[in-house]
Amino acid sequence: MGPIPRQFLITLFLLAFASPHSSATPPPSGYRSTLTHVDSKGGFNKAKLMRRAADRSRRRAATMQLSVYSTTSTSSDTRPTRLYSGQAEYLMELAIGTPPVPFVALADTGSDLTWTQCEPCKLCFAQDTPIYDRNASSSFSPVTCSSDACLPVWSHNCFATTPCKYRYVYGDGAYSAGVMGMETLTFGSSYGQAPPVSVGGIAFGCGVDNGGLSYNSTGTVGLGRGSLSLVAQLGVGKLSYCLTDFFDISLGSPVLFGSLAELADSSGGAAVQSTPLVQSPQNPSWYYVSLEGISLGDALLPIQNGTFDLRADGTGGMIVDSGTIFTSLVESAFRVVVDRVADVLGQPVANASSLDSPCFPAPAGAWQLPDMPDMVLHFASGADMRLHRDNYMYFDQEESSFCLTFAGSPGPASTSVLGNFQQQNIQMLFDITVGQLSFVPTDCSKL
Ligand SMILES: *[C@@H]1O[C@H](CO)[C@@H](O)[C@H](O)[C@H]1NC(C)=O
Ligand SMILES: *[C@@H]1O[C@H](CO)[C@@H](O)[C@H](O)[C@H]1NC(C)=O
Ligand SMILES: *[C@@H]1O[C@H](CO)[C@@H](O)[C@H](O)[C@H]1NC(C)=O
Ligand SMILES: *[C@@H]1O[C@H](CO)[C@@H](O)[C@H](O)[C@H]1NC(C)=O
Repeated sequence: MGPIPRQFLITLFLLAFASPHSSATPPPSGYRSTLTHVDSKGGFNKAKLMRRAADRSRRRAATMQLSVYSTTSTSSDTRPTRLYSGQAEYLMELAIGTPPVPFVALADTGSDLTWTQCEPCKLCFAQDTPIYDRNASSSFSPVTCSSDACLPVWSHNCFATTPCKYRYVYGDGAYSAGVMGMETLTFGSSYGQAPPVSVGGIAFGCGVDNGGLSYNSTGTVGLGRGSLSLVAQLGVGKLSYCLTDFFDISLGSPVLFGSLAELADSSGGAAVQSTPLVQSPQNPSWYYVSLEGISLGDALLPIQNGTFDLRADGTGGMIVDSGTIFTSLVESAFRVVVDRVADVLGQPVANASSLDSPCFPAPAGAWQLPDMPDMVLHFASGADMRLHRDNYMYFDQEESSFCLTFAGSPGPASTSVLGNFQQQNIQMLFDITVGQLSFVPTDCSKL
């Protein structure tokens, strides 16, 4: 069965379940916002952008392994603190409250909680816009411990009628703590492609104690696949984004939710690829996919079957992430990819023990990358993600070298991450209701 009948069946399935609802109330709407790169206003040149991105990527990859639980615990709560992935690459512009105040959020597909800095601050990092004040908003309502919205963040000494407190800690040391509330979020307020759309009753964290790298954000928007995620809370359960050219850093990238989250496929469905999302009990927020193999040109690379499988203990697997720039592969697969790229370039691997993204000296006078074949990532159900040369290589003009934008993650059981350099100009659609990732090559600047 090809992708068209399957899509059609899914549509029927959704209609069947949506129809009793939609006769009484209007169907759930779609929402659109824009992702801007954290470095978009920094005025960095290409080489500097790459180095900054590589540093962030390395730190993020280290926080995306299962073993990252905090070893320190507070005196009253001895459970290990779950650490959420730290670092981010994109900011998403929203507004919060009534009247709306700007909410510039770090977009994180690796975690679920949406939070913003909140008055009265015990500790807040500097932000350009006024800090959100729940007393000044007519749409704020508190969340108590008995509420469903409290379950994912429930802590000790939380009793039915007490305010629901949360504390969220990220792997890079950033954190936010405060109380949960319900608010109205407004989309599309500043980009003007569409009139602003507001949606009420979104559970969020009102953060009065916040720290860590903020990248000029005023909080975080959780785009994972858990119940507290904005994707789940907006209904329909679909998220789509389309990342524009990394080096056109000032271009925004569209992000779509709900009924607007559809692939803008111009090829009549032929190019749309779909693969199941895999669920991990240990990491319910992450978007796992089954990577079965990698080809470069016509050759399937000699990577052992099962190398990227998610294991029962929660190690291994591959996740799709918008907060990691370079794809990172479990060590054994990384070595195979690097060796083959070295063959294609006719160069030896400079440092065979390094897990950093490798660079190869360019011939004198080179001014661009040489011709190279496409790399194809083969996902389960026959979904192939074709990466053109510019989605996996980069020409570093300052160093006159050709660099592979893949890194390795140490050990045989590490989690691999599909990074956003590889996702440039590929529209991604995550359907958390059906449990499927679909993607199609697209000029994201035209979406
Ligand atoms: C908002 O109201 C609460 C409860 O009345 C109070 O504790 C808090 O200090 C107020 N916040 C601000 C920023 O005034
Ligand atoms: C935050 O914004 C200021 C200017 O508004 C800029 O100088 C600074 O580099 C930005 N910081 C980051 C981490 O982007
Ligand atoms: C790996 O899996 C593929 C497809 O399932 C199969 O054709 C191939 O023989 C397997 N290779 C090994 C070494 O098991
Ligand atoms: C090779 O990589 C390893 C691991 O990153 C590093 O410790 C070593 O210094 C590198 N060697 C050279 C010659 O760069």
